[in-house]
Amino acid sequence: MSASIIDGKAAAQALRDRLAIEVSRIDAEHSWVPGLAVVLVGEDPASQVYVRNKGKQTAEAGMRSFEHKLPASTSERELLDLVESLNRDDAVNGILVQLPLPEHIDAQLVIETIDPAKDVDGFHPMNTGALSNGDPTALVPCTPLGCLMMLREQFPEGIAGLNAVVVGRSNIVGKPMAQLLIAESCTVTVAHSKTRDLPALCRTADILVAAVGRPEMVRGDWVKEGAVVIDVGINRVQLEGQEKARLVGDVAFAEAAERAKAITPVPGGVGPMTIACLLRNTVVAACRQHR
Ligand code: GUN
Repeated sequence: MSASIIDGKAAAQALRDRLAIEVSRIDAEHSWVPGLAVVLVGEDPASQVYVRNKGKQTAEAGMRSFEHKLPASTSERELLDLVESLNRDDAVNGILVQLPLPEHIDAQLVIETIDPAKDVDGFHPMNTGALSNGDPTALVPCTPLGCLMMLREQFPEGIAGLNAVVVGRSNIVGKPMAQLLIAESCTVTVAHSKTRDLPALCRTADILVAAVGRPEMVRGDWVKEGAVVIDVGINRVQLEGQEKARLVGDVAFAEAAERAKAITPVPGGVGPMTIACLLRNTVVAACRQHR
């Protein structure tokens, strides 16, 4: 089988187009627009790129974007004060504090200080708890939400009953991805660095989600014929003799594409959907706050 390539860029554009229409309808009928605040502490180059893209796409969807760039020397108390002021600000419907934070700041404490109703990352324990309870009102982390939207497109007949293997157990991707797939009635296995015979386990997967952060770890012969493969990895690899680093996923793309029914590329797969889902969560949160 030669896989079809899942176009995350196009899917993200389609979602952003729908959101822009919804935002202009809200503005016309109710005279307000959703607002998203993004907080960046420090100068991590990858985080700076993400934050810039988030701000640009928020504005393009007709929403208000509030950027707070703080120096790496910001104290935990100063950051908590900012989060608390954003919680009180009615123009701010969504709050995202870019991770990772500098080591002297307790990231979990910061996450727990965000008003759960404005937690568009879905990282607050109120939201992770709601997701694991199967509560459909949970704000769901953006990357796994984007993965689920792309998966649904691949299975018009539904995904209930399929075997799903999620490789990686992070709070940001692996665990919420597993919860979403359980809620969809998949049979879900979460694999990690201690899993025995990972290749054999992956070969049982109708849906294989790789989110480990290891370049091209998932090989072609780990993929079941006809599986759908979602590659969450974004790894920068420096090839010998080449000046520019290359972006690769957690899946050996060319090998896996020979066996899969469909596969997401890196770049241009999961990445664009993540930001589009952040905008979606912000619109959802804003509508609830205005009820
Ligand atoms: N850093 C990498 N991914 C994410 C994300 O989804 N949310 C936040 N807040 N920080 C991140």
